[in-house]
Amino acid sequence: MPFYKFTPLFETFKTHLQRYAIVFLKKINCSLQFYNYLWLFFEKISVMENIDWANIGFGYRKTDYNVRCYYRDGKWGEIETCSEETIPMHMAATCLHYGQEAFEGLKAYRCPDGKVRVFRSDENAARLQSTCRGILMPELPTETFNKMIDMVVRLNERFIPPYETGATLYLRPLLVGISAQVGVHPASEYLFLIFATPVGPYFKGGFACNPYVIIREFDRSAPLGTGIYKVGGNYAASLRANKMAHDLGYACEFYLDAKEKKYMDECGAANFFGIKNNTYVTPKSSSILPSITNKSLMQLAEDLGMTVERRQIPEEELATFEEAGACGTAAVISPISKIDDLEQKKTFVFSKDGKPGPISTKLYNLLRGIQYGTEPDKHNWTRVVIG
Ligand code: PLP
Ligand code: COI
Repeated sequence: MPFYKFTPLFETFKTHLQRYAIVFLKKINCSLQFYNYLWLFFEKISVMENIDWANIGFGYRKTDYNVRCYYRDGKWGEIETCSEETIPMHMAATCLHYGQEAFEGLKAYRCPDGKVRVFRSDENAARLQSTCRGILMPELPTETFNKMIDMVVRLNERFIPPYETGATLYLRPLLVGISAQVGVHPASEYLFLIFATPVGPYFKGGFACNPYVIIREFDRSAPLGTGIYKVGGNYAASLRANKMAHDLGYACEFYLDAKEKKYMDECGAANFFGIKNNTYVTPKSSSILPSITNKSLMQLAEDLGMTVERRQIPEEELATFEEAGACGTAAVISPISKIDDLEQKKTFVFSKDGKPGPISTKLYNLLRGIQYGTEPDKHNWTRVVIG
């Protein structure tokens, strides 16, 4: 690496140059493509951020840029690059009052072959479109979604954690209704943005067993409600149960189906799976988020010759599982040591030695291998964003 890349003076110079360039290019209405090339050039000459990558938690950390796109007059506009962390909006914006808000979550992986990959972003785009249909927001085309994903990853290249650290660059797409309404109606204007932030494991210890607890006092979502959509309201509804679980010393809360309180639904911000007799079993429910990780694990389990069952799981069936786990983008696979049902005074133990089971471990290694480009990507799930 050239000597100047190590000097703080160079970094300061580069940052200022970048700022002035962006203002100038906006003024002369330069093309988006030229804009992108320029940023790529700046990123290429940039040094890696000096962060203790191996010990970052799952939290927000400022990066250089986010990308934005507005929906106005019935159409999506041009993609914009932005270095602001705030959003100017009307105080009567529908996202603030009536929950017209949707988000997504996916990751960019710095791989040992030097490339940076993202995982199944088409699926995130499709789920966001489904959420949009669910709460009457305009659907963002998959092509625009992917283009913005690629841009935000490239623009924040210096924040993509090194492979060995196990950390990743978390990408958070967000869609909000920004125009004013006082009556309960959808907005006419929307902002879609994606920010990026480097993250470590969501649960303590990463791929390590954690205890979960069934919380019967609260429902995350109703059978005909918004649980299948990724809207902020579901997470607001989960905050008390999540706090209760943490206060009791558990890693995460577990929900039963809201109608009968009989079947396993979701665990916090992750789907549930159990393993028995070479079978991968996961809940079928109209109140859980269709997890892209779970969908992928079902395929991988099938590839491994396992049977896959997506069906209702009565609570008492937990006693028959040899292994169990929570899965999601943030959680990846988080093996479950036990699930307690405090009200019914029951405990279901999945790991007697405190270690993840062999099938969960195999699935975890396979999934991570595909995400990091070290296992064959038979299903074309990854896209190289920086090659
Ligand atoms: N369930 C909920 C409620 C979530 O928030 C998430 C995270 O996105 C998941 C499940 C897992 O979904 P995915 O695997 O697509 O990240
Ligand atoms: C994710 O797994 O991406 C999630 O959305 C979980 C999150 C709410 C922290």
